[in-house]
Amino acid sequence: MAKIAPSILAADFARLGEDVKDICDRGIDYLHIDVMDGVFVPNISFGADVMKSLDRTAGAPYDVHMMIIEPDRYLEKFITDNTEFITVHYEACDDIGKTIEHIHKAGAKAGVSIKPGTAPEVLDDYLKDIDLILVMSVEPGFGGQKFMDSSLPKIEYYKKKRDEMGYDYVIEVDGGIGSGNAHLVRDAGADVIVAGSAVFRAADRSAEIKAIKGE
Ligand code: DX5
Ligand code: ZN
Repeated sequence: MAKIAPSILAADFARLGEDVKDICDRGIDYLHIDVMDGVFVPNISFGADVMKSLDRTAGAPYDVHMMIIEPDRYLEKFITDNTEFITVHYEACDDIGKTIEHIHKAGAKAGVSIKPGTAPEVLDDYLKDIDLILVMSVEPGFGGQKFMDSSLPKIEYYKKKRDEMGYDYVIEVDGGIGSGNAHLVRDAGADVIVAGSAVFRAADRSAEIKAIKGE
């Protein structure tokens, strides 16, 4: 079984609060918050004020995925009482070690994400300090894309490293996942599965959530 983090990028923004509340009442583990700046990725989503407007109704901790350049400039703004993870992109940081330290000092758990073209070994020197690794299974920027199975050996790599070295990070995977293919990432060793379109567009959201988790 895996945990699930529905991405609110796929919610109905015209009724965001209600849609998020609906999903939180269906046995989810985290709310995945996709922050995009139009520079690191070719799309703009929403900022910290939108996320904070959910604080009153959010029924699950935030897992914030920052797809922005210079994340150190903004990460504090995304830390509220509901924030568990702040995840930055390896490719967006000049000194990933310093940014990990910054996130910890700011009071959140530190996640690091790698894009499909980035080799998993780039994080080797930092694994002991990382709380969550986010393996992208699509190019970041948009929901509703096709799952890339090149993510599977990366999940396996981080699971093996954790077993061998006794690290304790969580392995998360993001992009193109639904009930039809979630078993692939669960079998590879993913602990947390992000799903946007599959969950929010499902005819039966509860059934889709259960199926993705492998319940
Ligand atoms: C893509 C985002 C994903 C996206 C997932 O850049 O990081 O979290 O919302 O959406 P689906 O599940 O529709 O691929
Ligand atoms: Zn994401």
